[in-house]
Amino acid sequence: MSGNTKIDVQAHGPVEGGEYVVFVGANLKPTPAVAKRIGTKTVDLIAKAAALEQFKGKARTALVITVPAGLAVDRLVVVGVAEDKKTPIDWAQLGGFVAGKISGKTATVVLDLPGADVTPEAAADVALGAKLRKYSFDLYKTKKDDKADSGALRLTLSVADPAAVKKALKAAEVVAEGVVITRDLVNEPPNVLTPEEFASRAEALKKVGVEVEVLDEKAMRKLGMGALLGVAQGSARGARLAVMRWNGGKSSEKPIAFIGKGVVFDSGGISIKPGAGMEDMKGDMAGAACVVGLMHALASRKAKVNVIGAIGLVENMLGGNAQRPGDIVTTMSGQTIEIINTDAEGRLVLADVLWYVQDRFKPKFMIDLATLTGAILVALGQEFAGLFSNNEELSERLLAAGTATGERMWRMPLAPAFDKMIDSKFADMKNSSGRNGGSSTAASLLQRFVNDVPWAHLDIAGVAMGSPPTEINKGWASGWGVRVLDRFVKDHYEA
Ligand code: BES
Ligand code: MN
Ligand code: ZN
Repeated sequence: MSGNTKIDVQAHGPVEGGEYVVFVGANLKPTPAVAKRIGTKTVDLIAKAAALEQFKGKARTALVITVPAGLAVDRLVVVGVAEDKKTPIDWAQLGGFVAGKISGKTATVVLDLPGADVTPEAAADVALGAKLRKYSFDLYKTKKDDKADSGALRLTLSVADPAAVKKALKAAEVVAEGVVITRDLVNEPPNVLTPEEFASRAEALKKVGVEVEVLDEKAMRKLGMGALLGVAQGSARGARLAVMRWNGGKSSEKPIAFIGKGVVFDSGGISIKPGAGMEDMKGDMAGAACVVGLMHALASRKAKVNVIGAIGLVENMLGGNAQRPGDIVTTMSGQTIEIINTDAEGRLVLADVLWYVQDRFKPKFMIDLATLTGAILVALGQEFAGLFSNNEELSERLLAAGTATGERMWRMPLAPAFDKMIDSKFADMKNSSGRNGGSSTAASLLQRFVNDVPWAHLDIAGVAMGSPPTEINKGWASGWGVRVLDRFVKDHYEA
């Protein structure tokens, strides 16, 4: 990762030298307080430059002015904003936009906007957006010039209440770190990020107080995880199950649980995928990566809640020992699965991890994240994750957190008819029933392993990687899920 952004906070004060970011509405005027600080000459300069450059102060447009000598500011970035109420994602996008407009290495952002009250949380979201915007993954570029942004950006937020902003900023910064951890994991190449290496990156969470336990193949065999191990058996790299635990709540309180699909590379196995684009399947561990990033954020901000994170780490490969179509595997739950297509491997991994988590931890609820089906891309594209759930309250809370943070979800159906489609001639169920309702039949298989625990499944195949550029992400991996789930936990589960 490069492009580290440092955030400083200071109280509104006199403007002197350097690069400044100020906000204006459609009348091209900053707030009276800001106008007073930058001076009438500079305000006139904005009006003049705006007329010349046809700048109308529309939201998400900017006017960059090199200020002549003799005025308080050296360079002015005038950013247009709509005068309306803003949600957390609006603030983050604004921060991303601003960070994208700054040319130098240091700048002061005067967080005083026409038409909107900048709460400490809003200021923190601006900082979060700026940090995420500046992320780039160039670990494997050896030439300095190829690196997107080698130096750190120093942003000073000028605000009304620095103490309150600093406090809110702490929480936002660890969420940004969590997103960066997730993006880094998803971007890493599959020859580097083996299941074993992934597990050791999860173990690094110990330094923020997370307990981490790693089960190897021997331990999983003992538990009877035949579905997960069946996927792994074609790979030269051994599977792992990493279990993370953050105990921030009362010891009597049931934990909440997050489960991630961690297929470090999905070749499809014997049912091999087409070659074009197969390199993208290094990202088939984005669900697991999100769980690690989320655990980092929750533990680092000492969230008052008990949380389990469990990630199934395997590589889906071909070889003399690989699983075949026609094989029947026995899961930890005792239920058997006929393998129709070795490329429907994520559900096999999750079947054992979901069962293990509900059996061992008796969680309040489970939420799994998985790049599970291509069909969810067909249905929802790259803007919404698919949400499948057996619980209305859980669904509503997730949807609301998604709207607030811009990591949006759309509820998809689970129904007996889909469940029936995965009945098998030879085993209790089959792992694929063809194209129709592909995301719902995959979710139905998972549901057979949740044992009626309140549960939600997020199919993130469309939103986790190959992401269209946004104001807060210019890279391949989005880090989807950390922001929305951190918010979801904060809004409902912290004592
Ligand atoms: N990892 C893929 C799903 C995927 C596709 C993720 C595109 C990200 C982008 C998953 O393991 C898979 O291969 N699913 C199959 C299921 C089918 C064989 C029933 C699919 O979607 O084609
Ligand atoms: Mn697959
Ligand atoms: Zn997969």
